[in-house]
Amino acid sequence: LLGPAPLLSVRPMPYLGPGINFTPWSDCRRLPDCALRFNVSGCRLSAERRRYAEAAAVLFHHRDLVRHGRAQLPPGAPQRPSGQRWVWMNFESPSHSPGLRGWGGLFNWTMSYRLDSDVFVPYGALRAARAPGRLVLPRKTKLVAWVISHWNEEHARVRYYRQLQKYLPVDVYGAQGLALKEGGVVRTVSEYKFYLAFENSQHTDYITEKLWRNAFKAGAVPIVLGPRRANYELFVPPNSFIHVDDFPSPRKLAVYLKFLDRNPRSYRRYFAWREKYDVHVASFWDEHYCRACEALQAAGDDQVKSVQNLAGWFES
Ligand SMILES: *[C@@H]1O[C@H](CO)[C@@H](O)[C@H](O)[C@H]1NC(C)=O
Ligand SMILES: *[C@@H]1O[C@H](CO)[C@@H](O)[C@H](O)[C@H]1NC(C)=O
Repeated sequence: LLGPAPLLSVRPMPYLGPGINFTPWSDCRRLPDCALRFNVSGCRLSAERRRYAEAAAVLFHHRDLVRHGRAQLPPGAPQRPSGQRWVWMNFESPSHSPGLRGWGGLFNWTMSYRLDSDVFVPYGALRAARAPGRLVLPRKTKLVAWVISHWNEEHARVRYYRQLQKYLPVDVYGAQGLALKEGGVVRTVSEYKFYLAFENSQHTDYITEKLWRNAFKAGAVPIVLGPRRANYELFVPPNSFIHVDDFPSPRKLAVYLKFLDRNPRSYRRYFAWREKYDVHVASFWDEHYCRACEALQAAGDDQVKSVQNLAGWFES
């Protein structure tokens, strides 16, 4: 049976304990208790293939699907247990999802960062603040940080950085740069006023932990390079980030950042939204499994669907 296929079931059955056989990227952590972690009750998660026939849904992680190939799929129609949903799960962007073609008509649902997925699980989200109040900014002694692990001169983000750093110092961390402080990315970035939340590729709704964790959680103002501004504004307030498209050139952006550096009142406006919202960062993969279970329960048994044009949809 295929690689990572945690089974999800909402049917009553004994819970046999956490399985560690098949999870994305061979991640061997225990499967979560959805009620405890995410207030989603009635879930039975399993990574044991022998329970395939019992499952109400089966999750297929795209990268592993491609690696193991179609021949290793569990029995499909007509042997597929009736009512069982196959869920295609992918959190990489189309640019980093090889082998998208050839999977049409196989899956019932999609699960991804795209808003129009059957199970939408974004990399992060804003939630109503639990304790609204005055925001205390972390002490800022530095200007612009960037953490990058995969350096590729062809990427739009590296090309932009090359221009920007001519006009403004940028501290680069990661594989080819400075070492992160003890305490990791969030600790390191929290000393900076700005963070380059540059995505590795530009696609609809593809807004990752670079925004949610590296910038927002660290209390730095994100400078984003990703989908267009209007796409970001579906998820976060307009005044919570700076978009590279807001400026005709990297030089003009640098001028603006220097202005904000000298004008604390203008800089602080980028934090006004924090009085109303808390930042939630998705927990891989626990949250994803539980959200799928939640969607399964909400959908009931009578909705039949299959995803015909997987590649066309995901690449749009
Ligand atoms: C948990 O979910 C139940 C039912 O959906 C809801 O009534 C309750 O308020 C939730 N509790 C929390 C802590 O969110
Ligand atoms: C799931 O998709 C398969 C293949 O397209 C289809 O035969 C089956 O009826 C679908 N089931 C549900 C519950 O949508």
